[in-house]
Amino acid sequence: MIPNEFIDELLNKTDIVDIIDDFVPLKKRGANYMACCPFHKEKSASFSVSPTKQFYHCFGCGAHGSAIGFIMEYQGLNFVEAVQLLADRVGMPVPKQHDDAHTQTQQKQRKQQQQTLTQTMATATDFYRQQLKLSATALCYLQNRGLSDEIINHYELGYAPDHWQALSQVFQPYPSQALINSGMVIDKETKCYDRFRDRVMFPIHDIRGQVIGFGGRIIGQGEPKYLNSPETPLFDKGRQLYGLYQARSAIKETGRVLVVEGYMDVVALAQFGIGYAVAALGTATTADHIHLLMRQSNDIYFCFDGDQAGRKAAWRALENALPQLKDGKTLHFLFLPPEHDPDSFVRAQGAAVFEEALLHQSLALSQYFWQTLTEKIPLNTQEGKAELIKNASQLINQIKAPALAFLLRQELSDKVGIDEYNLAQLMGQETPKRSVRQKDYHLPRQTFRQPAMMSLVQKQIRALLINPQWAVYIDLPEYLDLHGDYACLAALAECIQASAAPLNCGAVLELMRNTEFEPVIQQIIHDYLDSPELLQTDNEEDCMTFKQGMQKLLDSLKSQQIDALKRKLQDKVLSADEKQLLLRLLSPS
Ligand code: GTP
Ligand code: MN
Repeated sequence: MIPNEFIDELLNKTDIVDIIDDFVPLKKRGANYMACCPFHKEKSASFSVSPTKQFYHCFGCGAHGSAIGFIMEYQGLNFVEAVQLLADRVGMPVPKQHDDAHTQTQQKQRKQQQQTLTQTMATATDFYRQQLKLSATALCYLQNRGLSDEIINHYELGYAPDHWQALSQVFQPYPSQALINSGMVIDKETKCYDRFRDRVMFPIHDIRGQVIGFGGRIIGQGEPKYLNSPETPLFDKGRQLYGLYQARSAIKETGRVLVVEGYMDVVALAQFGIGYAVAALGTATTADHIHLLMRQSNDIYFCFDGDQAGRKAAWRALENALPQLKDGKTLHFLFLPPEHDPDSFVRAQGAAVFEEALLHQSLALSQYFWQTLTEKIPLNTQEGKAELIKNASQLINQIKAPALAFLLRQELSDKVGIDEYNLAQLMGQETPKRSVRQKDYHLPRQTFRQPAMMSLVQKQIRALLINPQWAVYIDLPEYLDLHGDYACLAALAECIQASAAPLNCGAVLELMRNTEFEPVIQQIIHDYLDSPELLQTDNEEDCMTFKQGMQKLLDSLKSQQIDALKRKLQDKVLSADEKQLLLRLLSPS
């Protein structure tokens, strides 16, 4: 845990305008700075950065946050990493809240252990590469699969000899704790032996190029065909992609990344000049994978084996991708003939045909989505339509990308012949404003997001976020029943009032990060901070409205509670305390 005081100080020393301007050139417009939004595709600038509020916000897609939030979103870093990056810029060492001597030693030990493991993997990689040069059979196998020396070197392929303890040639003592912890040696009570024997070795690199694990393929026929390193402190299968380290420059160059199933697919495609392929490591494509992929490129292609298993894997990838989708990022799916995997296809047809198919025959996520969902459902019956609504809405409701979700809902509405307004109710969504149909991807602002009418308490929260200094006007007595958005308003006020120094909007957002109120606040900014005028610095009139709003809220909360207590009174279930509360509420204040 990084202490809140540190975050406050960091945000004070950091200027969000400087930070964002490094990545997205900003233009001064009035009190704020503007640019085209880096988080969605747009032609005119609706991304605004406020130096006084230390807050960015896109009026088009609703993206918003503090300097920390921007770095997290833009660089794909987690909170601690983003704080570290900003702290480095201003030369502040990041403290850790519970950093006693004990945890410090533990951390040091962990780091040391990781270094030893990394060193172990590096030594093993070198050893296997040397051994490949000495093994005619292994070399011959790779050559028969069409791999050149250049590709073998590029992927650092190797060979694990057919001995029980070959690694003892380079590791003394054998076994060591590091060999066992890295999964290179299997430790049975009676004996220790190398995990990988008589296999072609594919080192798995992390994004920095360090080897964190291996996949080993049997030469010729046999079981298991592939053997992988177990999960270790270095190797987390759900977060790593084979070949990403080698693929990075090709991904940058072509602007796309291709996800395939197997090690051999990655390597064979590279052999044919398609260097931007990566593979999940014998697991399904996870949400973490998708997140990682979206950091690399705007266009993500999936091309799995043409068989039934490959098709299943593609659908799993789609399902895991839904919550991660962002407008401006596109997922495509290429389906090969059943007898092919990418390796065999590129060999049979060549790189040009493969890339042509990739670019022109793959299905966009939305096409694949409807094709699969409607495949087995008859849409000419009421029952079929109902089933489609159920299946599709379960999936669409997971999508957070506003434009894509909107378009899919619209499509669903067309397919089942129910207008969007009624469909939204069926789908358990807030009802959208009725609007003129828009087929264009560039949606007008009002339909881009689908806010319901804003409640008074939401308005007060919005105003308070923009003008934290107005917290002094908030006094919500504890005896009131503060539920839902009211609780959020009270918590915000309390947290601003408790701060020693004045807070700006960015700092308030950071204080609310990871609290139960974060989602409420996010949504209010996302849905309702929809015009630049709202960001103007406080004027007296707005302040007056805010104060009156607080009075109205208080009155309405009181009368709600009075009504509730009166109902209880009629049912004769009022406790002594409640009676007192009722009297208190009824007495003029
Ligand atoms: P080749 O047969 O060498 O062309 O490999 P492939 O990539 O075509 O293999 P396949 O399509 O059968 O498998 C795809 C991926 O699944 C492999 O790259 C491995 O990561 C994984 N895999 C395949 N077989 C096994 C196995 O027996 N055990 C484990 N753990 N993983 C496997
Ligand atoms: Mn294959």
